[in-house]
Amino acid sequence: MGHSVEVTKDWNGIDQVVLRNARGASAQVSLHGAQVTSWRSNQGEELLFTSSKAIFKPPKEVRGGISICFPQFGNCGSPEQHGLARNKIWTIDKSPPPFGSDDSYGKSVIDLLLVPSEEDKKYWLHSFEFRLRVSLATNGNLTMTSRIRNVNGKPFSFSFAYHTYFSVSDISEVRIEGLETLDYLDSLCQKERFTEQGDAVTFESEVDRVYLSSPNIIAVLDHGRKRTFVMRKEGLPDVVVWNPWEKKSKSMMNFGVEEYKQMLCVDGAAIEKPITLKAGEQWTGQLEFSVVPSSFCSEHLDPRWRPFE
Ligand code: BG6
Repeated sequence: MGHSVEVTKDWNGIDQVVLRNARGASAQVSLHGAQVTSWRSNQGEELLFTSSKAIFKPPKEVRGGISICFPQFGNCGSPEQHGLARNKIWTIDKSPPPFGSDDSYGKSVIDLLLVPSEEDKKYWLHSFEFRLRVSLATNGNLTMTSRIRNVNGKPFSFSFAYHTYFSVSDISEVRIEGLETLDYLDSLCQKERFTEQGDAVTFESEVDRVYLSSPNIIAVLDHGRKRTFVMRKEGLPDVVVWNPWEKKSKSMMNFGVEEYKQMLCVDGAAIEKPITLKAGEQWTGQLEFSVVPSSFCSEHLDPRWRPFE
């Protein structure tokens, strides 16, 4: 069996795309929100968390996986928390403009497109083309590349995040490396700015932060499963870290009370300094996820890594 791309229907009759590599890994992408709803390793293990209480009913996004927050992160006074992109039906992009290098070689790839309808423009006035490429490589790595073009007459600004729910053994066994010494905005304290003091970020209560200007490689170490997620990012200076913990979990309809133990959101994002595009300009933001045995980590992470070179 080689690489494959298969389009099927989900329970709501919406197309979903299943990417497979030749070694048993897979990724599933729904056209509802262009949300990645599953990513399995070459060993067949599910790596993303989806709530057992998730509601699969458009237009609302599903609690879990990887969703796209655009054109804003949070609600910024607007009714659409985390923006419109995650609640829209995307289309398959049959002829995406070429990438600089041949990005699809040896990978299983799908290109999706979102163009706002007249209805969407009541909420956000601007005309854009949002192209998302999701690819699965032979080594099981998952890459998401967003290209957003201003097709408006005028400039516009936006913030952005890949809202990523990692599946973890137990939140108390997890730590994040790569964010130490950084400043962060604490969403639990009116976005007040603090400086990270720990050697790594660990969890013993609710956390909701935006770490600012982070390195391009972040590692999420899961001691319980002895596996490490490595996130490499480009064009995305900030990192959101979120775990609702017990009390907030109880107030979330589509989330199990104990499920905060099995998930951690770590989002590659551009939030503090919104991206501004002039007419005709394009922005690119890319994330590559890999999973490695924990013993492999740290010293093998090369901070000079750049996906666009
Ligand atoms: C996180 C935010 O990324 O997403 C939190 O930092 C928010 O503040 C969480 O509560 C979940 O958002 P939503 O809209 O998916 O429930």
